[in-house]
Parts: sequence; C-alpha cells; structure tokens
Amino acid sequence: MKIRELREEGRSILSCLANLPNLSQVPPEQIAKEVDLILLFTLAENTEKDLSWLLINLDLEVSEQGKDRAISCFNRRAESEPVASIFGEKEFYGRIFEVSRDVLIPRPETELLVELALEKARMLEPPILVLEIGVGSGCVMISLVLELMQEKEIASRPIEYWASDISEKAIEVAKSNAEKHACRDKIRWFSGDLFEAFPKLDDSFKSLLVVSNPPYIGKGDCLPRDVSQFEPAQALFAEKEGFEIIEQIIQGVERFSQGLAGFLLLEIGYTQGSSALECSRRAGLGEGLELHQDLAGHDRVAEIKLQNFEK
Ligand SMILES: C[S@@+](CC[C@H](N)C(=O)[O-])C[C@H]1O[C@@H](n2cnc3c(N)ncnc32)[C@H](O)[C@@H]1O
Repeated sequence: MKIRELREEGRSILSCLANLPNLSQVPPEQIAKEVDLILLFTLAENTEKDLSWLLINLDLEVSEQGKDRAISCFNRRAESEPVASIFGEKEFYGRIFEVSRDVLIPRPETELLVELALEKARMLEPPILVLEIGVGSGCVMISLVLELMQEKEIASRPIEYWASDISEKAIEVAKSNAEKHACRDKIRWFSGDLFEAFPKLDDSFKSLLVVSNPPYIGKGDCLPRDVSQFEPAQALFAEKEGFEIIEQIIQGVERFSQGLAGFLLLEIGYTQGSSALECSRRAGLGEGLELHQDLAGHDRVAEIKLQNFEK
C-alpha cells in the first residue's frame, strides 16, 4: 500500500468525527490535517516530521508495520482520543512536552500566561520566587525556567522556582519533562492543595510571582468528548461553576505572600473576568486587577498586583 492510499483510508476512518454531536464535531479540514499528522508521526523518521516530507512521499510503499501503526492511531482517534494523547506529546511555547492521561494537554491559549509571567519576572526585584500552582505537564513552569535562563540579564539574578500539584502522577510527568529539558534541578517540587503545598516563606525573597492555570470549568458544563473522556477531571473541573479554585487562590495569595511585592497571574475562563475582579476587591486586591485577552479576544488571564508592588 502507498502512503496516498493509507491517507485515503485514514480520512475514511476519521470521517465519523465529522458526524458527532455539535460540541465534539471535527470539521473535515481538521480531519485531513490530523490524518497527515498521524501519517507523519507513524511513518516519518524523527528528522523528517514536516508536511513537505509527506507530500513528496505520497507514492512511497508503506511497510506492513508502518501501516498497522497508522491504522491503530486512526482507530484511536476515531474513538475521539486527542492526537496529542495518542502521540504522548504536545508542542507548547516552541518545545515538545510529554503528556499522559494524568495531565492536561497544554493549550495554545496558555502561552499568554507564559508571556505575561516573563514580562512580570523582568520587572521584579531579586531575589524572586516564581511559583506555580497546578503544574500539570510542567509546560508553563519549564517554559518560564528555560526562557528566563536564556535572558542574560535575568539569568544572573537570584530566582527560585517552586512548582506544585495536587496530583502526584502529574508531578511525575512534570519532573520527567523537566529532566528532558535539562532543568529538573532548577525547580523545587511540592505536592498538595494550593498554597498548603509550600513551606511558609521566610525573608529569602524580595518579590513573588504566582502563576496558575487552575481547573476552571463548571461541573455541569458540557465538554467535547475528546476532553471529557481523555483528560483528568481534576485538571478541568471546579465547584461554584468553575470558580472555586480561582477564588481560593485569590483569597489565599496575600496571606501566603506575607507582604512581598509581586503579581498573581491566573488563567481564567472567558466568562470569569468580572467574578475575578469582584473576588479580588473582596480580598483587598481589586484595584490592581487587569484582564488580558487571548488571540480570540476572550478574557483569558487575570493579573493581580500584590499589595506592596509600587511600580
Ligand atoms: C488546568 S490544569 C493546568 C496544567 C498546566 N499548568 C497547564 O497549564 O497545562 C490544572 C492543574 O491543577 C491541578 N490541581 C487541581 N486542583 C488543585 C489543587 N487544589 N491544588 C493544586 N493543584 C491542583 C490539577 O491536578 C492540574 O494538573
């Protein structure tokens, strides 16, 4: 069988995704793209994983083993399993991260959280503590460490990185990703609930940057099948229509920070901006709240200044 024929077979196997109920439906252009990704992933050598390789080699004969691998991936995708979960990896902020069923698959919109965190880290007075609640695959924290290490002026400043998750399995995935990206020892790892996971701060730091992409989907909300069936509920859902963990972080940050200057950056659901503002006001932080929009124009990150930050 040639790659061209296998491509047709893939499109036919995945065509069922176009007929799923609304939310889970995959448009035909996306199906065609995913078929090509699966072919690249299963047939191409590591060095050749770009679309031009596929297009040039459409008349190449596929080995029996290659064909079986591709068909098995097509069948998994036809059951709604996300491509990233089939491949066990996902690109985020220009790097590849391992994913498993224990972690959220990194989302492109979360790159905004990284952008803003980098911007804030550059402004803060050292020694700085950069802390992430809910590290998941590690994509946010590892991107921050690697990006800041590359910036000469910042790399020389004293910065500590602390990362936590309530899921031990997620922390294992994050550690493995950090190992692959040669920064595991740069990060201190903690497991536990929100701020309780961390030791009490002493006077080693002048400023604090807290970053989190917490679960923020309401328990009753409908989700596409590839998300609801293949990603961990603990990474997705929170009580109070998805707002409970955001609220707990906003309410807890001042006590944890003990008056340190800095910022809290929270990824939020696009309808949660006004609740974040109200909650910050109640916590005495509302004056410093700014909402940032993602590429689709939706409120996506709430930036909250910690009280002592003057600039
Ligand atoms: C939406 S995922 C974000 C993962 C990763 N940071 C990212 O942006 O892709 C939320 C993470 O928070 C963790 N989590 C949920 N509840 C938590 C809690 N109470 N304390 C700490 N982590 C929590 C979940 O296990 C999950 O890994």
